[in-house]
Amino acid sequence: MTHSKRPKHIAIIMDGNGRWAKAQSEPRLYGHRAGAKVVREITTHAAKSGIAYLTLYAFSHENWKRPTEEVEGLMKLLWEYLKQEKATLLKNRIQLSSIGNAQRLPLTVRTLLASVQKATQGLNGMRLTLALSYGGQDEITRAMQKIGQKIAAGHIQPEDINPQMIEQNLDTHDMPPPDLIIRTSGEQRLSNFLPWQSAYSEFYFTDVPWPAFTVDEFEKAIATYNLRDRRYGQASASHIQLVQGQ
Ligand code: FPP
Repeated sequence: MTHSKRPKHIAIIMDGNGRWAKAQSEPRLYGHRAGAKVVREITTHAAKSGIAYLTLYAFSHENWKRPTEEVEGLMKLLWEYLKQEKATLLKNRIQLSSIGNAQRLPLTVRTLLASVQKATQGLNGMRLTLALSYGGQDEITRAMQKIGQKIAAGHIQPEDINPQMIEQNLDTHDMPPPDLIIRTSGEQRLSNFLPWQSAYSEFYFTDVPWPAFTVDEFEKAIATYNLRDRRYGQASASHIQLVQGQ
């Protein structure tokens, strides 16, 4: 397999589990279970094919408002995933981390998450980040509170605040911003996922629901990304050459 230009960081909004299940007259949790299987396939493929960072929106800040049965089912699924996946993560040298307000997760999930994070810490393969109880506005709010406390303590002045300082106080402080954000199942919005970090990300939307997402679809998203001209607010190299008559 040749991979000319691999995005360093890919982030995925895994949407459509419920609709996929409904289309098959199955309960929503059946869709989430099928989605967890796809998480395994895509993670292993990404790690083996040279992606450095993969971030998955597994449970949003807003998902707590879903029916108790669904929330409990998702937490159970997450626990099972962490339990079963530890060996595969170690084998593929994948480092696990998480972003979001982990305090809200059940103690059993939090404990297991911490133990898998510890076991995989320092591995030199891909970094897999699960966004759990994550909301971008909540993340920015928590960052502002941390900065506010430093001001209140007299350690910094309000005018010391700059984008770098804000970034250092976000949950993602030790990773680069996503180059490519994929969203499955037809919706074309960010839904509070990495709003600060996605300032210059490329987006790829597909109608395929997450449980039907495949390695081929993942590669299609990367191929599309490779056709994009990322300018970060500047003129493209070809345009500059044209203007300068080179
Ligand atoms: C969106 O589908 C998906 C979620 C709310 C959770 C994502 C969870 C998984 C992929 C499985 C568990 C994850 C791990 C890491 C083991 P939806 O329910 O919003 O679908 P709908 O929009 O069709 O209703």
